[in-house]
Amino acid sequence: MSWYVCLWGMVYWTSTFFLLLIPGILGWGKEGHYAICKIAEGYLTEEALAAVKVLLPEDAEGDLAAVCSWADQIRFHYHWSSALHYVDTPDFKCNYKYCRDCHDTAGRKDRCVTGAIYNYTMQLLTYHDSISQSRYNLTEALMFLSHFIGDVHQPLHVGFLGDEGGNTITVRWYRRKTNLHHVWDDMIIDSAVKTFYDKELTNMIQAIQRNITDDWSNDILSWETCASNHTACPNPYASESISLACKYAYRNATPGSTLGDEYFLSRLPVVEKRLAQSGLRLAATLNRIFTFQSKIAEARR
Ligand SMILES: *[C@@H]1O[C@H](CO)[C@@H](O)[C@H](O)[C@H]1NC(C)=O
Ligand SMILES: *[C@@H]1O[C@H](CO)[C@@H](O)[C@H](O)[C@H]1NC(C)=O
Ligand SMILES: *[C@@H]1O[C@H](CO)[C@@H](O)[C@H](O)[C@H]1NC(C)=O
Ligand SMILES: *[C@@H]1O[C@H](CO)[C@@H](O)[C@H](O)[C@H]1NC(C)=O
Repeated sequence: MSWYVCLWGMVYWTSTFFLLLIPGILGWGKEGHYAICKIAEGYLTEEALAAVKVLLPEDAEGDLAAVCSWADQIRFHYHWSSALHYVDTPDFKCNYKYCRDCHDTAGRKDRCVTGAIYNYTMQLLTYHDSISQSRYNLTEALMFLSHFIGDVHQPLHVGFLGDEGGNTITVRWYRRKTNLHHVWDDMIIDSAVKTFYDKELTNMIQAIQRNITDDWSNDILSWETCASNHTACPNPYASESISLACKYAYRNATPGSTLGDEYFLSRLPVVEKRLAQSGLRLAATLNRIFTFQSKIAEARR
C-alpha cells in the first residue's frame, strides 16, 4: 500500500547508521533525541499529552523523552526499520524530492524517514477509532514518530547517497578519529555540553528553551505551520536539512580533515536551532494528530 501519489514532482498525501549499540552513544545521538522530546513535552496540548501518556510503555513512566531513542535501540532487532531513519539525495545535489529520493536501497518506495513520518502519523490518526486501531501498535507508532521527526532535522540524515550521509567521511573531531555523520549526531552536542553547559544536558535544553521564548519567538509560528492543513509535513524539514548539510556539514569537512574550534563554534548554533525546530514540530504534529481526532470522536457521540 502506498499513501502517496507522486505527480509533477509533488507529493499528495492521499490518506487521512550509523549507530553504535553502546549505551550513551546512540540518528541524533541519545542526547539529541532526549533534548528534542523534552522540548516537545513543553508544547503539547492537554489532549495530546493525555494520549501520549496512554500510549507510552510503562517503563517510560509518563516521560516521552525516555523512549525517544527506542527506535535506535531496536534498529538491529527490527532490521526492516533501518532505512526509515534517513533519506539520501543524489551526490552533490543540495535539494530533496520525495518521489526521487524516498526509497530504500532495494528501491522500495516510501521507505525513508519522510515516508515513515507519514506512515506513523497515519497510524496514530486511528487512536480514537477503536476498530482500525487494533491493526497497529500505536505505542510503537508514537516512539517511531517522535524519533523520526528528530532524525529528519539532523542535516546529515538527509545527505548524499555516495558517502552515506557523511558516514564514510573519516575526520578527526579535535584529536579523536570519527566520521562526519557521527560528529553531527553526537560530537557537537557532547562537546557543547562539556564546554558550555557545565557537563549537564539539562542546562543545554534550558538554554534552547529560553531561546524559543526569547530570540526565536517570532519564528515559532512559521516553524510549526504545516502547509495546506496536512497533519504531518516532513518534506520541507528534509529540504532544510540537505540545504544545511551542503552549507555547513559538508563544507570544510573533506575526508581526512581535522575539525576543531572553528568548525565547532560555527556549527553549534545550527545544531541548537535544529533541536529547537524538531521539538516544536514534534509537539505541533502530535497536537494536530490528537486534537483533530478528539474533535471527530466528539462529533460522533
Ligand atoms: C509502516 O509501519 C509498519 C508498522 O511498523 C511497518 O511495518 C512498515 O514498514 C512501515 N512503512 C513505512 C514506509 O514506514
Ligand atoms: C507494542 O509494542 C511494544 C513495544 O515494542 C510492545 O512492548 C507491546 O507488547 C506491543 N503491543 C502489542 C499489543 O503487541
Ligand atoms: C485549512 O483549514 C481551514 C479551517 O479548517 C480552512 O478555512 C482553510 O481553507 C484550509 N486551507 C487549505 C489550504 O486547505
Ligand atoms: C540562541 O539564539 C541566538 C540567536 O539566534 C544564537 O546565536 C544562539 O546560538 C542560540 N543559543 C542556543 C542555546 O540555542
